[in-house]
Amino acid sequence: MSDSNLTQFLTWEPHTSIETTKALIHNLIDAQQNDKGYHWCICLNDEIIGLASLIDVKRKIRTWTLNRAELSYWIGTHYQGKGYATEACQKIIKFGFSNLNLHKIIVAHAAENVESKSICNKLNFIQYSYEHDAFQKNGTWSDLIWYEKMEARDES
Ligand SMILES: CC(C)(COP(=O)(O)OP(=O)(O)OC[C@H]1O[C@@H](n2cnc3c(N)ncnc32)[C@H](O)[C@@H]1OP(=O)(O)O)[C@@H](O)C(=O)NCCC(=O)NCCS
Repeated sequence: MSDSNLTQFLTWEPHTSIETTKALIHNLIDAQQNDKGYHWCICLNDEIIGLASLIDVKRKIRTWTLNRAELSYWIGTHYQGKGYATEACQKIIKFGFSNLNLHKIIVAHAAENVESKSICNKLNFIQYSYEHDAFQKNGTWSDLIWYEKMEARDES
């Protein structure tokens, strides 16, 4: 998580100390215990090579039932392009629908993030929105492309 090549399109900056990483792990555990987010280390043999998550779990708004979450993922730069993110996300999506009682999973990527776009397509997500100037990072505004997948339409 200290690799600056990883974070161009992510919401966080490279970690500069082990304390930052420990605090993150603490937050992830806390989110999971409170049904706010679920996180999986992606492991190759004994090494953690990435993280994939179902974040921002929303169960209800007043009388509306939502049961939705957002998929997010990263793979260490040395391990990219080998299908690991796609493989991990396929399992996580299944788990989300079967075990977490989710009805919908959404995912978004910066318009320039072609690797992430490829994953969304391989996972059979359906694009539902193109958001202009969705976020600014390092002084530049980026567009976000949003996708959704419903429980009944999960064929992966
Ligand atoms: C996005 C990311 C998770 C992909 O992980 P990965 O394990 O390499 O993903 P996969 O190997 O399963 O698939 C990568 C796809 O990107 C494609 N790809 C890689 N470089 C590419 C490029 N320059 N142009 C177009 N497609 C590209 C690969 O060909 C592959 O698609 P294919 O199977 O259709 O050929 C990884 O690049 C990453 O961690 N990036 C930084 C963090 C990030 O952007 N996370 C997503 C935020 S929305």
